[in-house]
Amino acid sequence: MTTAPPPRTPGRYRVALVCLGNICRSPMADVVLAARVADAGLDDRVEVISAGTGTWHVGEPMDRRAAALLTTEGYDASRHRAQQVLASWLDEQDLVLAMDHDNLRDLRALGDADPARVRLFRDFDPLEPGGEVPDPFFGGDEGFGTVLAMVERTSAALVAEVAAVLA
Ligand code: 4NP
Repeated sequence: MTTAPPPRTPGRYRVALVCLGNICRSPMADVVLAARVADAGLDDRVEVISAGTGTWHVGEPMDRRAAALLTTEGYDASRHRAQQVLASWLDEQDLVLAMDHDNLRDLRALGDADPARVRLFRDFDPLEPGGEVPDPFFGGDEGFGTVLAMVERTSAALVAEVAAVLA
């Protein structure tokens, strides 16, 4: 577990979630974190976006297995379209959170990255801080369930951290 850094703009917070393709892990985290932000009544102050380090899937909706699981669990997976991360996010976002160490390395290669703001998503996981969100793309359906469990508990902890630094 870690503490969220202070907002760059007082009273507002911007979180970007980053994986490789932006069709599985970071969109799942995006949808779940945005839902927790709304539950906390912070959706007018906290912005959540996601992107991939790669370009293969730009413009595509979420992976259908990820979308099906999210829909079953009561989330809206329909609005996602994949995009590629921008280097400017390193200076604009309050947190840029990578799903795995490869994503984090690729983010840090984009420019000057403050390690307090550009880090692993699961630094905020209360159960296993500092772990990776494993890529489910080439595996079976169970991999998406594993991702969802990690994303749900980490998002709940992250919203509490963000609420604390916004207060
Ligand atoms: P994601 O999963 O990074 O969680 O969106 C992947 C999606 C696509 C590919 C790899 C990982 N791909 O190689 O196309």
